[in-house]
Formats: sequence, structure tokens, C-alpha cells
Amino acid sequence: MNSQLKEVVDKVAAEYSISNEFLIKATDKFEESMDQGLKSSPAREYMPMIPTFVTDIPTGKERGLFLAGDLGGTNFRVCSIYLNGDHSFDLKQSKFKIPLDLMTNSTAEDLFSYLATKVDAFLDEHHKEFRAEGSEILKLGFTFSFPVNQTALNKGTLIRWTKGFDLPDCVDKDVVELLQTHLDNLKANVKVAALANDTVGTLLSRAYSNNSSQSKTNTIVGAIFGTGTNGAYFETFDKIPKLDSSKFKDKTGMVINTEWGSFDNTLEILPSTRYDKIIDAQTSNPGYHLFEKRISGMFLGELLRVTLIDLFEQNHIFVELFKSRGGTLPHRLAEPWLLDAEVLSYLQIDDSTDLKMSELILQNHLRLPTTKEERLVIQTLTKAIAHRAAYLSAVPLAAIARRVAEQYKDDENDFEFGLDGSVIEFYPGFKDSVLEAINIINPLKGSNKKIHLSIAKDGSGVGAALCASTAL
Ligand code: GLC
Repeated sequence: MNSQLKEVVDKVAAEYSISNEFLIKATDKFEESMDQGLKSSPAREYMPMIPTFVTDIPTGKERGLFLAGDLGGTNFRVCSIYLNGDHSFDLKQSKFKIPLDLMTNSTAEDLFSYLATKVDAFLDEHHKEFRAEGSEILKLGFTFSFPVNQTALNKGTLIRWTKGFDLPDCVDKDVVELLQTHLDNLKANVKVAALANDTVGTLLSRAYSNNSSQSKTNTIVGAIFGTGTNGAYFETFDKIPKLDSSKFKDKTGMVINTEWGSFDNTLEILPSTRYDKIIDAQTSNPGYHLFEKRISGMFLGELLRVTLIDLFEQNHIFVELFKSRGGTLPHRLAEPWLLDAEVLSYLQIDDSTDLKMSELILQNHLRLPTTKEERLVIQTLTKAIAHRAAYLSAVPLAAIARRVAEQYKDDENDFEFGLDGSVIEFYPGFKDSVLEAINIINPLKGSNKKIHLSIAKDGSGVGAALCASTAL
């Protein structure tokens, strides 16, 4: 890279850097925000910290056949899960890509009717035995991975959409009721017994599978680092002032869906580059989920894209290309949201001579011809964006570990975090960087406990089944 360009790129990369001091400060701030959310009614300034009405962490002994429907980001998954009662389960599943026109230009009725049809078709294919007249009603756990105002295990109204969904008429409606109505229209013989966020599902399924006496770990967090990011953990009632806990007599606490995507929506401490601002303005929920917009898979590609466009507009890259195309850039680079995080994952690890592998990838995925110098710029920025995302991801995990240490003070086991999602699972080096940053924060200082990050693949379906198993 010529020295002038290098200077410019290093400056931009530095805007994405996260210092050790920041990690410590942000962890304190995160814990403070948890307390604010646990006492306040929902508002933009606070993390939602949603009580989930799940009062027990599974022991691994739960049994029976349950259905799960999982609406996450881009797919709807339908599963049946047989819990064997010995930490193991048998699972059948089908996965459907949500048509784009059901995510935005549509109505709640259309979306939920589509979901119900898929559950019904799944039963036809895999569980004919439940179709006969008079057969037992199957309980379904509905994983719905958006912020909901949950008022019972099987009741919750949508607060707002995230991750690119935008069906305004669905906001404030009970999503369990919507799904149930459409299942009943189809005479599907299914009862939606529980509503669970994907992070709650991940926590429960990991806890079910984890045989603590052998692994010497307790599962304390279920978290997603995928299209979006969020986490759930068990909180004691004395720390949830906004919940009337008198109804839960023999219980000690409840699983909380933090919706940490909305940590620091007021940007008191989060790093905020001009690129972050551009992206936020392009989303359907500006001003919300600003932490998520710096971390999760849906945004990493877009961050890289807007950063590159900025350097182009300052005449640092793609100048020749622009001229040779008669004054345009390839549309996959020019248009928002078309650069997938998966592409970044290949660019991140390219160590081929002259970054030839990146050349092919950029050509194939973006129809973008590049010079060696441009590829170096792209790789430097990709690494900076991913590094910031991974370091920020450590903050909520460390804060929760520190916070729940008290609950486990008489227990020798280590802490395990169950993690799911494409970014943590597939993005090269992401998980290691998260762990590195957790170690910098060192939330369990002074104790012998260690923190383990485990991939809890596809846990949310099993978790939803576990939620349904606790329903009456
Ligand atoms: C978004 C949703 C949240 C979900 C997360 C991960 O942040 O608001 O409910 O858990 O994505 O899928």
C-alpha cells in the first residue's frame, strides 16, 4: 500500500479499535444498565430485560414429545423433539426460508398463516399419528426471536421488529394468539404452550444437555451471535423489582431475556463512527439495538461496504474501476445490505499471495474487480470491523458472569456459556477473540472458576420444547 493510502486506512481502522480500558468501563456500564432495565418499564434508554416466566433451569430429566416452531432471522424451523430424560433427545426438523415479501411488504396475518401452514405440513410429513381424529394435542414451544412484552409463559406482544422484519400491524399483538388462530384455522391439533426467545431456548437446551456432575460446569448464559445478538440468564427475584414475584411461591428467580442488542441505545459509551450512524439511519429501527448494529452478522458486511464507499468517495480506492465502467460501481457494492458477513469471513483469513483468493471472492460475490492494493485495504478494514465486534461481544458475557457469581458462590463448578449463531460458529477467530477480551476483563477475578464458551448448535428448538414441557 502506498504510504498515503496506508495512513488513511490505518486511521479508519483505528476508529474501529477497542481499548482494554473501554472493555472494563463498558462491563461496569452494562451491569448498571441491567439493573436499570430490571426496574424500569420498557423505554428506548433501557435494555428491555424481559422476564420470561421460565422459573426453572432444566435438569436433563425432562421427558416427552414436543413441537417447536422457530422464527429467527431468515428461516422458520419446525422441529419435533423427543426428550429422553437423560440429557439426550431425538429431533426431526424442516427448515424454510422466509420469503422476503413476507418480512416487509406484508401483514401479520400473511406471515402467521404461512408459519402455521409449515407446522401443519411438518406434521403431515413426520407425525401422521397425531392427525387422526381424537388424537392427543401436541404442545408447541414457539421460539420468536424479537423483543416481546411477555406477560405469561404463553403470552407476549411484539414490542418492535428487529433484523430487517417490518410488518407494522403486528406490533402490540400477541404472537402466540396469532399463531394459534392460524393453526386452529388449519385444524392442526397443536397448542402453542410456550413462547421463548432464541436465547432462552439456547440456555435451556444447553442446560438440559449439560451433565454438570460430569462436565463440572454450570450453564449460566444462552446467547446468540448470528444475524442478531442477544443473551438470557437466570436472575434472582430480589434483583427484578419490576416483576411481582409473589405469584411464584416456591421459586427463587426467573430467566431474563436481556435484549442486549439495545445496550446503550443513548450511546453514552459505545464507540460510534460515522459509518455506524449511516447504517443506523438505513434500518427500520433507527435509534434502537445500537449495540447489535455494531456486532451481529446482519451488520458486519454493511459496515465494511459503507466504509469502502467512503474511501471511494474520497478518491482513495476504486477510482480506475469507476472510470472504466463509465461512472458506476458494481451494484452489489453500491447498494445497501448486499454484502454478506460470510464474504467477510473469507476475506479475513486470506493469506494467499497478493490476496488472490480475495480477488476471486470479491469478483464472484460482488462482481468487483480489485487491485492488490484495494484488497489489502479491504482486508485491513474487515479485520478491524470483526475485531471490534468480537471485543464488544465479550462485554455482556463478562458482565453476566460477574453478576451471577454470587448465585454460585457455594458451587465449585466452572461457568459455561451456551452460544449459537453463524458469527460465533463460523466467523474465523471470532470465538477466540471474544474469549481473549473476556480474559482481559477478567470478571471472575479472585475465584478459581473458569469460563468456557460452548457452541450450542440449533439449541433454540430443543429449548422451546423444554419451555413447552413446563407448561400446564
Ligand atoms: C435480535 C432480537 C432478539 C434475538 C436476537 C438474536 O436482537 O431482538 O430477540 O434474540 O436478535 O436472534
